[in-house]
Amino acid sequence: MDQLLATQAQAVNAVNASPIVTIVVPTLNERDNVEPLIALLDAALPGINWEVMFVDDDSTDDTAKHVRSLAMADPRLRCIQRIGRRGLSTACIEGMLASSAPYVAVMDADLQHDEALLPRMLEILRREPVDVVIGSRYAAGGGLGDLTGKRASISRLGTKLARLICKQDISDPLSGFFMCRRDVFEGAVRRLSGQGFKILLDLLASSPRPLRVRELPFEFRSRQHGESKLDTLVAWEYVALLADKLFGHIVPVRFALFALIGLLGVAVHMLVLWSGLNFLSWGFGLAQSMATFVAMTSNFFLNNILTYRDQRLRGWRLLRGLLTFYGICGIGATANVGVASYLFSANQIWWLAGLLGVVVSAVWNYAMSSIFTWKAS
Ligand code: GDD
Ligand code: MN
Repeated sequence: MDQLLATQAQAVNAVNASPIVTIVVPTLNERDNVEPLIALLDAALPGINWEVMFVDDDSTDDTAKHVRSLAMADPRLRCIQRIGRRGLSTACIEGMLASSAPYVAVMDADLQHDEALLPRMLEILRREPVDVVIGSRYAAGGGLGDLTGKRASISRLGTKLARLICKQDISDPLSGFFMCRRDVFEGAVRRLSGQGFKILLDLLASSPRPLRVRELPFEFRSRQHGESKLDTLVAWEYVALLADKLFGHIVPVRFALFALIGLLGVAVHMLVLWSGLNFLSWGFGLAQSMATFVAMTSNFFLNNILTYRDQRLRGWRLLRGLLTFYGICGIGATANVGVASYLFSANQIWWLAGLLGVVVSAVWNYAMSSIFTWKAS
């Protein structure tokens, strides 16, 4: 009898032990926010079986290590540490994939989102025909906190642009704070773009059917510890997300970005070629070679920052990447100079010769650099 009771108690514990909701928290250098966040979650979710899944992109302040050491004493804490990759959206996606709870939430680590909404979010999802509950800064009663005027207006512009890919009437589709049922996430997961910062918008735009949404207002709090990771790249990443959702089925967004930077490279190339020919009285071969070299270098750095920002090379890997890029482009450039010089000697039209040389090398460069310079993850 005692044994039976013990087994039953174990089974009950096991049921109790599996969380009903996983709160996915992406982190990048948020060490000092971890403990305060856990304390806030603990206070906000009494009687609810929750777990928190930190997804850390190899923070230099040892955020992941810190979480793991706390987790030794608290099984509700989990941590995924990703190495060699970056990205808020992909971090959230992987965190949700690693959870088996029937409800998943996404929340920032920096205490700017209001954890007090979590129980209501869960309650709504359990009781009502709603797929996603969003913490909204723009719904009546919410607010942007101390976001500066400029950031606030950029945020509003971004919110308007979201209409391009999400037709629903949502006050804050760019919010980074929401909860959904796991089947809602699973229904969209293979179509998610994963570009950039806006995982909620990605989910709304990628879902095979329009999601039923409820918004709860909250006041965006100010950050206490650490720094915002939002920089000028975030705007670029947002454009990449919009482009991917709008045209991604026609051209993969990475190829489009590479081509766009390639176009910029053509402008750089032509400028150097023109300057060399006109101001420095270089011969055509020399001018075309110099133009190729300059364009090659600037293309490498731009691609590293923009096209491959999620696999951005740094330190020694940057140098190695640059060398492989030179190597690959060197072969492309040999063909480039060869083709262009031949054409120039044949027809003397400098820009046409220069341009065709560039086209030959561009195709080669994209294919080879995606294999050798920025190895696919
Ligand atoms: N794993 C991982 N990888 N986490 C990241 C990365 C990354 O590349 N970049 C940022 N984070 C984490 C931060 O550590 C933080 O916990 C959270 O993502 C948000 O980053 P912040 O830098 O604080 O962004 P924000 O406050 O400017 O913007 C946030 O709030 C807005 C309003 O809700 C984001 O969630 C935006 O997407 C959101 O629009
Ligand atoms: Mn923040």
